Amino acid sequence: MGVFDASGPIHALVVGANRGIGLGLVQRLLHNNPGSGDHPGSGKLGCSIGTVYATYRQIASPQLQALLEQHPDRLRIIPMDITQETQIAQGIAQIQAQTGRLHLTVYCVGILHEGNLQPEKSLQQIQANHLMHYFQVNSIGAVLLARYILPLFKHGEQSVFASISAKVGSIGDNRLGGWYGYRASKAALNMLMRTVAIEYSRKSPKTIVVMLHPGTTDTRLSEPFQRNVSPEQLFSVERTATQLLQVIEGLQPEDSGAFFSWDGSQLPW
Ligand SMILES: NC(=O)c1ccc[n+]([C@@H]2O[C@H](COP(=O)([O-])OP(=O)(O)OC[C@H]3O[C@@H](n4cnc5c(N)ncnc54)[C@H](OP(=O)(O)O)[C@@H]3O)[C@@H](O)[C@H]2O)c1
Repeated sequence: MGVFDASGPIHALVVGANRGIGLGLVQRLLHNNPGSGDHPGSGKLGCSIGTVYATYRQIASPQLQALLEQHPDRLRIIPMDITQETQIAQGIAQIQAQTGRLHLTVYCVGILHEGNLQPEKSLQQIQANHLMHYFQVNSIGAVLLARYILPLFKHGEQSVFASISAKVGSIGDNRLGGWYGYRASKAALNMLMRTVAIEYSRKSPKTIVVMLHPGTTDTRLSEPFQRNVSPEQLFSVERTATQLLQVIEGLQPEDSGAFFSWDGSQLPW
């Protein structure tokens, strides 16, 4: 049996689902139809999925719109700029009013570059406002979400709250340097969510809170930095979504608070 013990279909929320890994996860979840041909490693969760909530920042992408047209009964899309706390509160209130419970939430929001914000190669490039934006999007958004979403996990069935982190956020693994803001904001994400795991263990003990490194994945985020990545180390979005769902499916209650790589191994802090 997989991680979820719900007697009926489970409900999922993917935050940052407009493109990239988040969109890939929504696609996989909508096609998660356990059947006789499935085998361990197929990347399907061993339970049926009810409603999938997917958030976008400003304008829903053509890909997300197309999914909505294909699955009007199961997919709900919600605007949520993670830097606007009122939008987080309103989005969660919408889910509360509709389904009232969540079993799987994945925080896929993240920035590495955006307009003239580019990862720093040296101290000369450090800018306070850029650092703050990295923290606001990559770290603070997740913990605000954790605050508002808690009531939706308190239903007594097993649930998972995963945040997509990054191996470069590992302090122990940092040998190359550079990318100050991105690295530090992912390290902060890890600490914030580890702390959430401890509070949730008291307030929502059936929620497993984890951080996941997806591996280098072919998305807009990694696109400018793919030159030195060998083809076998650059995953498609579909492959990453499958691998992350496999890690989620294999989670145990005692895994809460841990930082996992795409292959299920634990990463150093
Ligand atoms: N790709 C990789 O190689 C790689 C490696 C390690 C970790 N990661 C992590 O994986 C996660 C997903 O990244 P990705 O590769 O899929 O990148 P992506 O294709 O660039 O997607 C980034 C997502 O973040 C959302 N986003 C950015 N700023 C936002 C904001 N202020 N409010 C709400 N949403 C916002 C975007 O929404 P809109 O489209 O609506 O703007 C988009 O859905 C990130 O946390 C990233 O750090 C990626």
